[in-house]
Amino acid sequence: MVSAGINFGGPRLTGVVPAEELQELKRERNAVILAHNYQVPELQDVADFVGDSLGLSYQAAKTDADVILFCGVHFMAETAKIINPTKRVILPDLDAGCSLSESCPPERLAQFLKKNADKNYYVIAYINCSAGVKALADVICTSGNADKIVRAAPADRNILFVPDQNLGAWVMERTGRKMDLWQGTCYIHVEFTARSINRIREQYPAAPVVAHPECTYAVRMLADEVCSTEKMVTFCKESPARQIIVVTEAGLLHRLRKEIPDKTFIPGPTDNCFCGECRFMKMNTLEKAYDALLNMEPQITLPEPLRKRAELPIRRMLELSR
Ligand code: 13P
Ligand code: SF4
Repeated sequence: MVSAGINFGGPRLTGVVPAEELQELKRERNAVILAHNYQVPELQDVADFVGDSLGLSYQAAKTDADVILFCGVHFMAETAKIINPTKRVILPDLDAGCSLSESCPPERLAQFLKKNADKNYYVIAYINCSAGVKALADVICTSGNADKIVRAAPADRNILFVPDQNLGAWVMERTGRKMDLWQGTCYIHVEFTARSINRIREQYPAAPVVAHPECTYAVRMLADEVCSTEKMVTFCKESPARQIIVVTEAGLLHRLRKEIPDKTFIPGPTDNCFCGECRFMKMNTLEKAYDALLNMEPQITLPEPLRKRAELPIRRMLELSR
């Protein structure tokens, strides 16, 4: 049971949302609950599937539910809507954005492509971007399949990788493929520094470091493994180490501690007294999720021509990374 605030917008006015009530409502609505690894524990615990962006995209593509309650950030729910135009996709808080997505407005990308038309760019867009950017891309990737997608790009084309410069640089290192990089960053992952990682390593010398590719080069160089959140779970399960330093958004720790209770997970620290929580991911709460399912909003809507254009590069990704 979780205490909730007063809801002025919908019929529920009180205090408490039991997870069982949400499950009951879910059955009534024939809904599926998809949650990202960074969601608050209460939402991870009621979800039908918890995973990374890639896993969530596949789940969204295969569901036969009428309603998708997407507990993640806006671009994730939007991706689910793009591949499920006839389903209702609801997001507990419509303001749950993403700093990477914000760094690349579609108008600026369109302008850039126009100005550099002579480069005939093949555009690879990290899934952390808006539908407008996806519609301008040739293919989408996630941190879970980026190297596969880059390796499959036509050899005779210049590649523009948007919007994350750190993920882009990491894929260049792995594939040897040169790419021009959009200068976006995740405001959370760039807070981890070489100094903060060295400090925690001194405290736990036997613990391997696993880091997300949105971290800077200096941090990636210190990590024993760099991978998507889903692959981090696999790494932690398979590693013989009893203690592991996890350098990503703090929400993943809930899943790790739940699924691997016999190991200790140490959150990667930053130089500031910084909580490591993505403020956008944390906008969703159990209470908002319940209200969203009750009121069947806020829902994701998209103009059909834009949706159609954005669907193609997502489908291409799903095909390529099978
Ligand atoms: P994953 O695809 O690894 O889950 O990462 C998504 C994300 O937003 C990382 O900040
Ligand atoms: Fe975006 Fe960073 Fe939050 Fe992930 S953690 S949703 S990249 S702001």
